Amino acid sequence: MADVTATKSVASNENGNKKMKCEAGEGACEDGRIRGLVVLKKKKVTDFTSFTSTVVGVGRGLVDKVMGHELAGKDVSLQFISAVNTDPGNELRGKLGKPVHLEDPVNTSACLAPGELAFSLTHHLDEEIGVPGAFLVKNNHHSEFYLKTVTLEDVPGHGQIHFVCNSWVYPAQHYRIFFANKTYLPSETPAPLSKYREEELENLRGDGTGERQEWERVYDYAYYNDLSEPHKGPKYVRPILGGSTDHPYPRRGRTGRPPTKEDPNVESRLPILQSLSIYVPRDERFSHIKFSDLLAFAVKSVAHFLIPAAEGQFDRTPGEFDNFQEILKIYEGGIKLQKNQFIERIMEDIPSELLRELLRTDSDGFLKFPTPQVIKEDKSAWRTDEEFAREMLAGVDPIVICCLKEFPSKSKLNPENNPDMRVYIEENLGGRTLDEAIEEKKLFILDHYDTLMPFLRGINTTSTKTYATRTLLCLKEDGTLKPLAIELILPHPDGDEFGEISKVHKPAKDGIEGTIWDLAKAYVSVNDSGYHQLISHWLKTHAVIEPFIIATNRQLSVLHPIHKLLHPHFRDTMSINGFARQILISAGGALEMTVFPAKFSLEMSCAAYKDWAFPEQALPADLIKRGMAVEDANSRHGLRLVIEDYPFAVDGLEIWSAIETWVRDYCSFYYKNDEMVQEDTELQSWWKELREEGHGDLKDKPWWPKMQSLDELIQTCTIIIWVASALHAAINFGQYPYGGYLPNRPAMSRRLIPEEGTPEYEELGTNREKALLKTITPQLLSLLGISLVEILSKHSPDEVYLGQRDTPDWTGDEAPLQAFKKFGKRLEEIEQRIIDMNSDGRWRNRVGPVKMPYTLLYPSSEVGLTGKGIPNSISI
Ligand SMILES: [Fe+2]
Repeated sequence: MADVTATKSVASNENGNKKMKCEAGEGACEDGRIRGLVVLKKKKVTDFTSFTSTVVGVGRGLVDKVMGHELAGKDVSLQFISAVNTDPGNELRGKLGKPVHLEDPVNTSACLAPGELAFSLTHHLDEEIGVPGAFLVKNNHHSEFYLKTVTLEDVPGHGQIHFVCNSWVYPAQHYRIFFANKTYLPSETPAPLSKYREEELENLRGDGTGERQEWERVYDYAYYNDLSEPHKGPKYVRPILGGSTDHPYPRRGRTGRPPTKEDPNVESRLPILQSLSIYVPRDERFSHIKFSDLLAFAVKSVAHFLIPAAEGQFDRTPGEFDNFQEILKIYEGGIKLQKNQFIERIMEDIPSELLRELLRTDSDGFLKFPTPQVIKEDKSAWRTDEEFAREMLAGVDPIVICCLKEFPSKSKLNPENNPDMRVYIEENLGGRTLDEAIEEKKLFILDHYDTLMPFLRGINTTSTKTYATRTLLCLKEDGTLKPLAIELILPHPDGDEFGEISKVHKPAKDGIEGTIWDLAKAYVSVNDSGYHQLISHWLKTHAVIEPFIIATNRQLSVLHPIHKLLHPHFRDTMSINGFARQILISAGGALEMTVFPAKFSLEMSCAAYKDWAFPEQALPADLIKRGMAVEDANSRHGLRLVIEDYPFAVDGLEIWSAIETWVRDYCSFYYKNDEMVQEDTELQSWWKELREEGHGDLKDKPWWPKMQSLDELIQTCTIIIWVASALHAAINFGQYPYGGYLPNRPAMSRRLIPEEGTPEYEELGTNREKALLKTITPQLLSLLGISLVEILSKHSPDEVYLGQRDTPDWTGDEAPLQAFKKFGKRLEEIEQRIIDMNSDGRWRNRVGPVKMPYTLLYPSSEVGLTGKGIPNSISI
């Protein structure tokens, strides 16, 4: 691998490169000149942060031409660096070639993406340079540009050499280094490139001081100390997450913003209107046209003016839906958005197509949402017990349900369950004893007690009024689950020393008991949707991945095989997490407004992090831990599912196994034995820093892999890729399809079950729908909530899915390219398997009473709200 052999193949990007090669000129000319092609993007089309100055479509051809001529000439220079000969004056560095400049724009429009420009380039063959392994670029132009690729054609004896850059180049960066798409372990780096490799990592690590600037690329760690706004008063103060035993948390990217005047430990926040400018290393900023870019603005818009404007649009009770029919109006006809001065001003500033996207309005100003899949085929099947239970296996949070291993269920905080639970369960076991049913693995539990109970007293002092819930279910002969009982638990009003108040409810169809059963199911959904958003989604995917991104960029060179393997799975995550800190998870942010734990939201996720364990994020380990699978060498993937028809696990194991095979094929190509893993200095620094800094609050946990063997490396990388791609997709993209219809998945509850003898209690028997709607999320917050989950559930037009890469020439090594192709083929087979299973009536949990096929782990997708598709990374 130390041999610098350039790729001869144009096959990896058959259409693109072949065409570019033709038009850039064929190969080395007789006079010693090597033709090259530089592809870059200009700033404007990709910069979506300024709505008013964005050039969208209109007049783009003209802009291309003007920008093209601006960039050609002396303003941008490249100097190639030898991969074989060192500089006579400095033996640690490869010899530098003479500066060359961008020539005229090349007409290769057929193979360029919108906004891209191509320039020809002439590199003068110089025997002392020999084969270039890197180049240095200087931007003396007045504004930044996005350098995508540089390709040298027909370098004698080597053929084509690709430099995959994908990076913003600013005048303020002085100069930048880019390497050819070769892969080297640190010890195998050609000597002339070693120093450049080290220096580039030093640049990315920075010196840990100062406030980061827009053009910088520094990756560093910080605590979550930027969620509070102390100057607004105690209501806007939250604990610092990370760096303490009480509040352990993964690290976030450091921005270096100054501390607040009120508290030197709290980082000051950007004003709301500048939220989109929060620092993330420049290449982590959304560089493409994404819906994600609109997130902050959309949420802000909804909160600030859509909600007040929509007030009073539903008849009878202000601020309430009266019945389910009324809710359906927001999907069917829409409701009229009242214009006010603010809306009119916004309308003047924002292009109408963006406005429609942001406000979900049609041209007449009607507020309208797409019909969520869960009510598309059947408007009332969501209310059945079967669907309620099915969503624990095939819904948006299928990673909580456990097989009951003993009764009372093991609870850290309270080992005793309510004795009524035993009675209700035994009534429904068809003659089995409870112990027999446990032995046969027929009983399951959805238990939110331990997570919620420490916070419940505090939560119920806010506008939220709710219970901690435990749901017991049994597996029926037809493979579906049936809820047996729901336990609703409250802290004792007189204090914890008096125990707690627990009541068990059993299924009922009619009368007051029927309504109470509906309410009990709603409290379970409320518990689960809060757990889902804050723990399954935010903590267990978004937050835990960020330290891996930071450590990878600080410790693994772009030449390192593991950097090349993981990099696509980190795209846009720091950016979306940065926005989330500004808009969603901050004190008073949209999440606190729309999920029941309110101001305790992030603290609850912090408590859950105490129990997070990296190896348990592997799907097989997770299933075994929850008792949902047992090891069985004779079963597919070595595991036997306790519920055979568990759609998330069935599809998940296929995807997990495909990722693992791909990672094994890839890693085994570079590491021939365990010693090579142990002796890889960058890899060892990466893993040490990840454990000690990135996840530093858990650094002493015994479960961390030691990173001493190839198997540990494979397992680690498989987990990272699984979490960033498939797990996030399964948790994220069903949010609107299931939760866009609030009664199915309410995120809040604002009253407890009414006391017997009160008029509210009597209403339970007379107006069932109203009783539920008076309990769950109120109308206006429902609109905010579904606006948010709609945005979170969409795929952007430039999404890159599992099995795809945005740059075909991401490596020059043929065997990994072939293994990656095999991975893509395997994913296509999995797609077909999912289609087949969804249409096979045997698998009842895959469609359920709502007739909604399980597609959340279907790898590819179209743009928009599709309820399927596994993007490579957490980008929304
Ligand atoms: Fe997400």
